[in-house]
Amino acid sequence: MSWAVLPAAGRGLRFGAGLPKQYLELAGRPLIEHSLRAVLDHDDVDGAMVVLAAGDRHWPGWREIGGKPVLVCTGGAERAESVLAGLRALPATVSEDQWVLVHDAARPCLRRADLARLLAVGRADPVGALLAAPVRDTLKRADHLGKSQATEPREWLWRALTPQLFRRGGLTRALDAALRAGVAVTDEAMAMERLGLRPCLVEGAEDNIKVTTPADLALAEFILGKDR
Ligand code: C5P
Repeated sequence: MSWAVLPAAGRGLRFGAGLPKQYLELAGRPLIEHSLRAVLDHDDVDGAMVVLAAGDRHWPGWREIGGKPVLVCTGGAERAESVLAGLRALPATVSEDQWVLVHDAARPCLRRADLARLLAVGRADPVGALLAAPVRDTLKRADHLGKSQATEPREWLWRALTPQLFRRGGLTRALDAALRAGVAVTDEAMAMERLGLRPCLVEGAEDNIKVTTPADLALAEFILGKDR
């Protein structure tokens, strides 16, 4: 069994709306409700810890969804600090060895089949796993003048998505070590890689987008409306 940690302490500054992006309305509900329901949908997910910004006035105050507990705690200035706070705030009944999903509150279009595959593959892996999508564009390396100086091979390159699945204890230690070392970790897998560990890449749907701009919100609405 697993718990989910949902970092939702971002202030959504890039979005330019009055409301943090995780609370914008998407298909008649706050965006974060889609992300939460998507992870709680799996039978093996017992509950969720939502990490909120200090003084967040927009959180709807849910205590459970679909009969599963929804707890909250306060995050930090960086996403990694928020995830670490969420891991530490999990109930004591979640052991160090238990698997924890980390899923961005800003990713409302997670598919049921992707979550199921991530859990199946990740729990069979000694380290854990993340959803990811192969890079499809041609990649250019720029020089300092903004000119293209080389084309990078994309064969081994993937875009990291969420959820990511790691054991509570291992991920807590990895994030703590990265933050103490002053490393800007942008996802959980990066904190594990720093320690020489190799999480499994599980190919996920490209449309598991992170809502960052108003155009993404319209795209997410379209994706959720598709036959999935
Ligand atoms: O800012 P970005 O889009 O990378 O954020 C990804 C997720 O991390 C969002 O759900 C956001 O709310 C969360 N976050 C957080 N704490 C921060 C920054 C971002 O929980 N300090």
